[in-house]
Amino acid sequence: MDLLRIFNSDMRAVEFYAYGPASQVLRVAEDALPPIPGASEVLIRVLAASVNPVDCAIRNGYGKDVFRLKGQVGPEPFPQRLGRDAAGVVQAVGANVKGFQAGERVYCAPTKACQANLIAVDASEVAHMPAGLSFLEAASLPFVALTAWSALVGQAGLDEASAHQKRILITRGAGGVGSFAIQLMKAWGAYVATTCRSRHVDYLRQLRPDHIVDYTQTPIPEAVSHIDVALDSSFDAQEAVLSTLKTHAGASYITIVSPKMRLIDEFGLKEGVRRADAQLAEKVHAQSLLGRHYYWGFMKPDGAALAKVTQRIESGQIRPLIDKVFPLEQIALAHEYCESGEAQGKIVIDMS
Ligand SMILES: NC(=O)c1ccc[n+]([C@@H]2O[C@H](COP(=O)([O-])OP(=O)(O)OC[C@H]3O[C@@H](n4cnc5c(N)ncnc54)[C@H](OP(=O)(O)O)[C@@H]3O)[C@@H](O)[C@H]2O)c1
Repeated sequence: MDLLRIFNSDMRAVEFYAYGPASQVLRVAEDALPPIPGASEVLIRVLAASVNPVDCAIRNGYGKDVFRLKGQVGPEPFPQRLGRDAAGVVQAVGANVKGFQAGERVYCAPTKACQANLIAVDASEVAHMPAGLSFLEAASLPFVALTAWSALVGQAGLDEASAHQKRILITRGAGGVGSFAIQLMKAWGAYVATTCRSRHVDYLRQLRPDHIVDYTQTPIPEAVSHIDVALDSSFDAQEAVLSTLKTHAGASYITIVSPKMRLIDEFGLKEGVRRADAQLAEKVHAQSLLGRHYYWGFMKPDGAALAKVTQRIESGQIRPLIDKVFPLEQIALAHEYCESGEAQGKIVIDMS
């Protein structure tokens, strides 16, 4: 592969140069430096990406120290890159990479920010794209899929064999994570209850959950009970959701909006982690007295898990749900739309 030719082609990347509103701080850098792939990395030409709420949060300063320490954004304060999902074509692979070759269509939710024309991603974080999906459709899936997968499969221990006996509650079902989780659990035969605002009820019907609770009309505990596994992405309904779980029956509660990052932002790394660990331990203990498991869930970049998601998509169990596609030049509008809370399905960026 002619790396020089690849590197000399246009390289654009979404960057922000201060924390603040999208229209003021976001730009598409035309002079971004292309990455040089390491021995274990795959160089990908990105043709589609997506916007997730965490992109908007990072742009506003959320997790600024932690993301830098983890290498998810650059070492300098600014400019910073964004993006958690990408789909594209392999351009080259490092010397130690097995299983991928130039020309293959891949997707990923990598550790490093990935809204750029060229990205170098550790091969362990990449999977082949599902056959039959466009790049735009593929880019809508990895981040939300791996968040739901790591919670439901990794933490709650669900699989195709066990899920059909379970009663699952998924809050904010019209969101990206929620709608993937509903599809996966319905495909595996579980009873699925979900929650949303009134405006999302009709949209959610297409995913065929067993019960939709409009939480603006009916309190969740009045509508749902005897839950085995709850996947919660609400900020304010934790106690209501916990009250729906079975007691002394090994039920699991996972929230993907833990306070950990906000505590670190407020109190610094050491004290923030100490407070977060203390809060988590207290919750785990309180729920263990009721015979339940309590978790904070986090997306994990994981190519092997994403390959399993690929199989479910190819078998027709799960389909992409896209609300709007924005061209790369309109990245600020895409952020504003994400922040509006109006989206029904994913917000995708055409990088081609
Ligand atoms: N821990 C992790 O690794 C991880 C990974 C992915 C996501 N997350 C977090 O989980 C949450 C859900 O993620 P997602 O990708 O599913 O989000 P999303 O697609 O943007 O959906 C969010 C849902 O939240 C509700 N909402 C209400 N007011 C909103 C507002 N002003 N802005 C945005 N949403 C609003 C909406 O549901 P209703 O109107 O029906 O209430 C919407 O369907 C986010 O907070 C995200 O940061 C965490």
